[in-house]
Amino acid sequence: MALLKVTFGFIVMSVLSFTSSLAYPGFFSWGGTGPAGGGSFGLFPEFYQFSCPQANEVVMSVLKKAIAKEPRMAASLLRLHFHDCFVQGCDASVLLDDSATIVSEKNSAPNRNSIRGFEVIDEIKTKLEEACPQIVSCADILALAARGSTVLTGGPYWELPLGRRDSRAASLSGANTNIPPPNSTIQNLITFFKRQGLNKVDLVALSGGHTIGVARCVTFKQRLYSQNGQNQPDETLEKTYYLGLKSVCPRSGGDDNISPLDFSSPVKFDNSYFKLILSGKGLLISDVVLFTGNIGDAMELVRSYAEDEGLFFHQFAKSMVKMGNINPLTGFDGEIRKNCRRVN
Ligand code: HEM
Ligand SMILES: *[C@@H]1O[C@H](CO)[C@@H](O)[C@H](O)[C@H]1NC(C)=O
Repeated sequence: MALLKVTFGFIVMSVLSFTSSLAYPGFFSWGGTGPAGGGSFGLFPEFYQFSCPQANEVVMSVLKKAIAKEPRMAASLLRLHFHDCFVQGCDASVLLDDSATIVSEKNSAPNRNSIRGFEVIDEIKTKLEEACPQIVSCADILALAARGSTVLTGGPYWELPLGRRDSRAASLSGANTNIPPPNSTIQNLITFFKRQGLNKVDLVALSGGHTIGVARCVTFKQRLYSQNGQNQPDETLEKTYYLGLKSVCPRSGGDDNISPLDFSSPVKFDNSYFKLILSGKGLLISDVVLFTGNIGDAMELVRSYAEDEGLFFHQFAKSMVKMGNINPLTGFDGEIRKNCRRVN
């Protein structure tokens, strides 16, 4: 009887601790190590519930200040998460600077002279290291900053799964080959997204991220002067819009001049990006081919999102969660960087 009792007590205790380790993995993230290795842990919204409950508040307070100072920063931070996730998964590889052991992704063709927002990520990381040292990963900071930037510019909120860990490596070649170029055909875009486990619905919804932010002349110049190899402009460009773009982006020079991706509301997260595409005022080839590329379901989705902002917001949130789940490091994999720019 006594033996039975002891055994029973032991079983109850192990069952309890087993359940709580599944329900609250963040509880075990003290010291920056998880309870299980091998990536057997998924991401959970409550990951930092006990280890750093104020994580999101810290992120939001830095974001509010940074975006008030420069509204474009919201767009730049949203894009950083995308460029992180498409290269080796959402592991903060995009944040690593060149060093003896790292060849930075920052010098890749899609990123060079283009991605920005690193100082804001640094400030968030510094504050989080003060509040909860070695707990919150840089990869999760990027995901939180992307959601916060969306919310602060008027877009949707979503429950954000957390618990990503940071890579000890970057991939320059991965950045060059996995991030789609702005002159992609619709087929290219579908292929790039499929490689990441994302479908056409994700492609169209996530492209709606271009409702905020800007692009450099060099990324859309081809449309103005040589779309068909014959020194002709892209015939799908609306005339007045085309003339405006030419004044910002001359045939030669001016490569770094910028134009809003959604000129009707460049700092507001809304569905006007899709309305502009319908009226021939999309900026990048990769934007307009969603509608002109003769892929029926993509065209239909552009129309639906232009008509129904709620539908766009709902799908954007869903697809952001999906993108944020691309190949994360969990458990004992990777590390929690002390400084997002270098490995520990
Ligand atoms: C579908 C394929 C995509 C292509 C080809 C593409 C391409 C580009 C290009 C060329 C720029 C301008 C870069 C520059 O001028 O240096 C840009 C900016 C931007 N992209 Fe994308 N992008 C894509 C998808 C996405 C996704 C999925 C998101 C986020 C959900 C996103 C968010 C942004 C934002 C917010 C900006 C503005 C950044 C700023 O103002 O600093 N893009 N994109
Ligand atoms: C896209 O741009 C690159 C670089 O300017 C160029 O080499 C390539 O031919 C273009 N692709 C298409 C489909 O226009």
